[in-house]
Amino acid sequence: MMRRVIIDTDPGIDDAIAILFALAHPQLDVAAITTVAGNIGIGTTTRNALRILALAEQAVPVHAGAARPLAREHADASAIHGRDGLGGVAFPEPVAPASDEPALQALIRMIGEAPEGSLDILALAPLTNIAMLIREAPQIARRIGRLIAMGGAVREPGNVGKRSEFNIAHDPEAAEIVFSAGLPLTLIPLDVTRKVRADAAYLERLATLGTPQAIVSRDLIAAYFIGTSGGESRPLHDPCVPLLALRPDLFTPEAMRLSVDCSQGELAGALAPGEHPLDVAMGVRAQAVLDILAETLGHPSSPRTTSHQ
Ligand code: BDR
Ligand code: CA
Repeated sequence: MMRRVIIDTDPGIDDAIAILFALAHPQLDVAAITTVAGNIGIGTTTRNALRILALAEQAVPVHAGAARPLAREHADASAIHGRDGLGGVAFPEPVAPASDEPALQALIRMIGEAPEGSLDILALAPLTNIAMLIREAPQIARRIGRLIAMGGAVREPGNVGKRSEFNIAHDPEAAEIVFSAGLPLTLIPLDVTRKVRADAAYLERLATLGTPQAIVSRDLIAAYFIGTSGGESRPLHDPCVPLLALRPDLFTPEAMRLSVDCSQGELAGALAPGEHPLDVAMGVRAQAVLDILAETLGHPSSPRTTSHQ
């Protein structure tokens, strides 16, 4: 079945692979991309979304969103993603500008106009834009079909603090608003994304596929090794989100009650047993996910050339 989605993102190396995958998959209709400051500043994440669309030769409206978290300063992850947010990998220049309509207004308009439950949000970044939507227009937010968000660490250690993961730690107040809103939310924490790993053989497989999408994904993952202490493989966090949208059967859900630590310091963004009922993906058939990712990047569906606006 075809799913219509809005991708909320801060590209970002793994965001870029997730977006290329979603654009390439015949059963995902990407209605818009909304950007947020996260891995890098809002000007760069927005430009990167446009560069990714240029590479995929697709016309999808891009709406710039929040330039900073709700209640904190922006602190980027350029040490991992590079100063341009895309690991210095060569992308074409944008072929179209971003929309004049800000992300919040676009979300309100598009979700409000779509049949109730027909539009999903794939959240690959700090949840600032989604929290703003919930605060500004809660009755519209309730029309979202499914919200699938990469974020948090449950039984795993964090990646920016002992217990905290970047997307949640960057804007814990936003995550708390989203978790408490009672939306149909599936969270994909590090517990799953760290199991979906690309190694040298996977890079070689992507290179052999030969499409621009597969070759650039190979280059992005290769760049993803540079900002780390090494290791034989890298986790593909954000691509798990569109994969779960398409193939929930490959993930193992657990019902949990969690809340977000909104203190300052080391524990900010940590998930703790709490009051908000959440559907959390805690297991994954990683090889099947990696296979679908590679196959789709190697055989992208025909480019869309008309704007969805
Ligand atoms: C998340 O943080 C970002 O750096 C990645 O793009 C991903 O969304 C992983 O913790
Ligand atoms: Ca991201």
